Amino acid sequence: MNYDKIIQSALKEVEDSNSSEKLEQVRIKYFGKNGTFTNALKSLSTLPIEEKKSVGEKLNGFKNLFFSSFSKKKNQIENLEINKKLENDFIDLSLPAREVNFIEAKVHPISHTTNEIVNILGDMGLSYEEGPDIEDDFHNFSALNIPENHPARQMHDTFYVKSKTHETLVLRTHTSPVQIRSLKKNKLPLKIFAPGRTYRCDSDMTHTPMFHQVEGLVVDKDITFANLKWFVESFCKTFFEKNDLKLRFRPSYFPFTEPSAEVDINFKKESGKIIIGEGDKWMEILGCGLVHPEVFRMSGVKQDVTGFAFGMGIERLAMLKYGMPDLRDFFDSDLRWLEHYGFSFFEKTDLSWR
Ligand code: DAH
Repeated sequence: MNYDKIIQSALKEVEDSNSSEKLEQVRIKYFGKNGTFTNALKSLSTLPIEEKKSVGEKLNGFKNLFFSSFSKKKNQIENLEINKKLENDFIDLSLPAREVNFIEAKVHPISHTTNEIVNILGDMGLSYEEGPDIEDDFHNFSALNIPENHPARQMHDTFYVKSKTHETLVLRTHTSPVQIRSLKKNKLPLKIFAPGRTYRCDSDMTHTPMFHQVEGLVVDKDITFANLKWFVESFCKTFFEKNDLKLRFRPSYFPFTEPSAEVDINFKKESGKIIIGEGDKWMEILGCGLVHPEVFRMSGVKQDVTGFAFGMGIERLAMLKYGMPDLRDFFDSDLRWLEHYGFSFFEKTDLSWR
């Protein structure tokens, strides 16, 4: 084998390479698994002993020579390639900057309205409670006197959650299950409210799959409908900041209260705008009633007590107080909507006017 010729042409091929790919091809040609050098090295053992030494030295010298010119060339090519790339990736620093619209951070109407409700109910002597968003069937339905196959279950368009156990789990369809959890956990008398997210499989102008409710529960000896009526009336007048707000308690049905009522407030419409607390039209704002004895029994309450409960939608209260026309906008994350309907961080509920 004419080693000198091979060495000459290998070094020339390195020198003539003008891209990383070509250079790599040359390396493989000589030093790859089946490369010329690799094979020569393999056949070294077949040579007679005196030739073995001189050829071995030559090949090793070649290897060193090859790789030093290989890495020199590699550097050269990479520099060229980077420079070419930089030339093409030209950034025009003379372009004027794009205008950024800095919007003042705003509090979302849901947060603001929830804070208002928390302030008012807290001021009226109720304490804050929370329950989980993922509920079991017992707390969301059965304990609230909504047994399986009860038509009220169909009213709720429930989202069911896959569970690893055999237990039926749901995204809570209302905040009422917190009533059960509080009754089980706390000593009596009990005065609590529980705001939070609720879920129903429903979507149109007035329904979104996720929305917010506040639950209220007051349990003591001799709680009557009169207590409920006073409480709800005081809350609504304070929330809408209207001392002459009129309320109408309309008989209704909820499985967990008896008797049950829906509460309407008066309003009028003036050039398309709703004005609460004026006029003689009625608008429903919440459901309420006296706690059903079955709810006490299911929660393990043994004492001789009565109670009232109420539940209301936070979005609905916000829409009525602040005039948003469409419920879905609350969850569209449109900054223009938030800019218009959002609140400053420093606005607080003014309770001093009462
Ligand atoms: N949980 C009811 C609903 O989502 C609202 C409700 C009505 C809650 C009456 C109550 C109540 O506590 O007494 O439709």
